[in-house]
Amino acid sequence: MTNLIADLEAFKNEQLAPIVAAGQLSISDAGGDTKQLLQIALANEINVAELAAAWMPSTPELEVKLAFARQTGDEAGHFLLVAERLTLLGLDVRNFAPPPGNPMFEFLRGLTTTVERVAAGLFTLESIAYGVNENFMALCAARGDHETVRIYREYIQPDEKAHQESGQRLLAKYATTPELAQLARDTIGKLLELAAHTRAAAATRLGTACFPGC
Ligand SMILES: [Fe+2]
Ligand SMILES: [Fe+2]
Repeated sequence: MTNLIADLEAFKNEQLAPIVAAGQLSISDAGGDTKQLLQIALANEINVAELAAAWMPSTPELEVKLAFARQTGDEAGHFLLVAERLTLLGLDVRNFAPPPGNPMFEFLRGLTTTVERVAAGLFTLESIAYGVNENFMALCAARGDHETVRIYREYIQPDEKAHQESGQRLLAKYATTPELAQLARDTIGKLLELAAHTRAAAATRLGTACFPGC
């Protein structure tokens, strides 16, 4: 790991810790019906699939373009896995309508440079997803829903981890000047700030801070 990536990882993890800790405290909450929480996952998966797809044509670097294309397909796969699980749990998802975007997704959609997109979409958002999904899996395990845990363990989490690692690799390659490194850091900080607010608002609405990401 380069010095830059080690610095950015430390900076990110510091701000990510309270977000993940909030979810951990909620693992044993009675709040948040599992089916309701899985619908949050559906919304997040489709939002991230669309985001990566939207970035693909306007990202000039072929390697990054392909990373977004790959992510689009993976997140679409996660959507389908969660939809299938919800169907088995008795929820009809054929008419699922994603809720309107939140301020975090509006910020993400407005990013125009490769370094900002990689720093926010792959490097940071995927770390949030991985952390909050681990909490959600613990909640499902505590409720005896081992099939949902298995789906996350075997399929979704390995992809989220791979997305995050591609973010590390691409940032190391493209954030090559002090200005770009600072831009990456600022983008990471801004996204985590927005994620903390968005998740806190959703936690109030859902009655639990333990719900999945993308
Ligand atoms: Fe992902
Ligand atoms: Fe995902």
